[in-house]
Amino acid sequence: MPRLQTVLLVGGTGRTGRHVLHQLLERGISVRAIVRTGGKLAPDAARNPDLTVIEASLLSLPDGDLQRHLRGCDAVISCLGHVLSFKGIFGPPRDLVTRATSRLCRAIGALQPAAPIKLILMSSVSVDRAGGLDTRRSPLERACLRLLCGVLPPAQDNQRAADFLQETIGASNPFMQWTVVRPDSLLPGEVSAYALREGIVSSLFAPASTNMANVAHFMCDLVTNPTAWANWKAKLPVIINAAGSSVATSPTT
Ligand SMILES: NC(=O)c1ccc[n+]([C@@H]2O[C@H](COP(=O)([O-])OP(=O)(O)OC[C@H]3O[C@@H](n4cnc5c(N)ncnc54)[C@H](OP(=O)(O)O)[C@@H]3O)[C@@H](O)[C@H]2O)c1
Repeated sequence: MPRLQTVLLVGGTGRTGRHVLHQLLERGISVRAIVRTGGKLAPDAARNPDLTVIEASLLSLPDGDLQRHLRGCDAVISCLGHVLSFKGIFGPPRDLVTRATSRLCRAIGALQPAAPIKLILMSSVSVDRAGGLDTRRSPLERACLRLLCGVLPPAQDNQRAADFLQETIGASNPFMQWTVVRPDSLLPGEVSAYALREGIVSSLFAPASTNMANVAHFMCDLVTNPTAWANWKAKLPVIINAAGSSVATSPTT
C-alpha cells in the first residue's frame, strides 16, 4: 500500500486554497495548513482528522517552527495572495508571495530532505517565463504588463516570486523542485475539463477563464501523479478551462 503523503498548505483559507484543502483531504492526503485564522476554514475540513491546523502568520513564524512543520512533508502548496481589497493590494507586505516563497525555500534548504520536496506555487497568467519564452505576447501586451507590474504591487510580486524559483532555485536543486501554476481569470464552479499549456494561450485583452476547482485539481495531481510531476516540474504551466465542457475529464496537455 502506498505511503500516505503529507502536504504543507499555505493560503488554505483563500478562494482557491479552500478547494485545494478540500481536494487534498478527499484524496486521503494528510495536510498541515498554516493559516492566520483557523475559524475561516470550512467546518467539514476543520473536523477532518487528516488536517493539522497551525494558526500563525507564515511571514512571522520562527525559522525553527517552519522547519518543524515542513519536516516529513512531500510537497508544499502555496495559494497565498494579496486579498482583493485596497489594503490587500496596496498595503504591506507588498512582497507577500516573494517573501513567503523564499522563506519556504530557505526552510526546505535548511532541512536538507533526503528526497526533494515539491513546491507548487499558485501564480497568474500575468507572469512571464524567464528568458522571454512567452513569445506570443504582442509588444502592446508586454508594455501593458510592464505598466501593471509598476502600478499593481501584486503583479510585480507574483512575477518576482516566479523569477526567484526560476533563477535562484533553478531546475537542479537537490532539496526542492517546483512548479508555478498560471491560471487565467478565476471562476467559481466545479471541477471540469481543463487544458494545460507550456506558454501563454490567450491575449491579456481577451482573457480565458479557469475554475478555481480546476486549479486545485491540477495542484493535487502534481502531488499524487508522478507523470504530471515529471511533465511539469521546473515549468510554469498555464491552466485554462477547456472550451464548452462542464464534464470532468482527463486534462489535456
Ligand atoms: N483573482 C484572480 O482572478 C486571479 C487570477 C489568477 C491568479 N491569481 C493569483 O492566485 C493567488 C490566489 O488567489 P485567490 O483569489 O485564490 O486568493 P485569496 O482568496 O485572495 O486568498 C489569499 C490567501 O492568502 C492569505 N494571505 C493574504 N495576505 C496574507 C498575509 N499577509 N500573511 C499570510 N497570509 C496571507 C489569505 O489569508 P487570510 O484568509 O488570513 O486573509 C488567503 O488564505 C494569488 O496569488 C493571485 O494573485 C488570481
